[in-house]
Amino acid sequence: MNIVLLGAPGAGKGTQAQRLVRDFGIAHIATGDLLRAAVKGGTELGVQAKKYMDAGELVPDQLVIDLVKERLSEDDAQEGFMLDGFPRNTVQAVTLDSELSALGRELDCALLVDVPFDTIIERLSSRRTCRDCGYTGTVQDTQCPNCTGEMYQRDDDSPETIKNRLDVYEKSTSPLVEYYRGQGILQVIDGNRDVDVVYADTRKVLGL
Ligand code: AP5
Repeated sequence: MNIVLLGAPGAGKGTQAQRLVRDFGIAHIATGDLLRAAVKGGTELGVQAKKYMDAGELVPDQLVIDLVKERLSEDDAQEGFMLDGFPRNTVQAVTLDSELSALGRELDCALLVDVPFDTIIERLSSRRTCRDCGYTGTVQDTQCPNCTGEMYQRDDDSPETIKNRLDVYEKSTSPLVEYYRGQGILQVIDGNRDVDVVYADTRKVLGL
């Protein structure tokens, strides 16, 4: 199954994806995680991407598209994948469609995790992420429940940057909802409920 996870920053895409990976082993391709790894590794891509990420702006399309193309060619993505944080605008969505089509593949579902912005601001302000394994938790997780690693607050989870990320989402990414509705593959779930309830709905919608 080839899935795109859509939703505003902090809607809970990564949280749902972590559960799907745990239970079904679907390849999880999160462009934010790939970019943060590049920043941490000090690669040329990381150096170029950092200034955009710190400001809550989108990293230039071609950098992200190349990253996703490479990741999609890896073995674990051949049986299916879950894209999280990509595509982020129409250029990326159209490019993804044509890349998949050239490979004789297509998307099965674009799953929108729908959450109001006031809830999102609260969630992002209290989000904490594991420095070692990338686990996403909250301020209540003093250490990572997965690997006991150190939990930290992402640089882009500051109030100023959260606001800009939401503006960018509204302007550039939200039009993709209609793009995928037009393709007949959009599914919407109410993400403003308990994580386990949202997950039950996610599985139902995906037929898992
Ligand atoms: P990225 O890492 O993709 O960030 P994002 O889209 O802003 O999404 P998040 O990871 O912040 O949120 P999420 O929806 O996964 O929520 P989460 O599960 O963590 O991108 C970062 C940056 O990289 C971008 O700003 C950009 O610069 C760049 N970038 C990435 N992709 C790009 C692309 N394609 N093109 C260009 N640039 C790109 O949950 C949030 C919090 O809420 C957590 O604390 C969680 O525990 C909690 N939570 C989750 N679900 C629930 C629930 N149901 N109830 C209560 N709490 C919940």
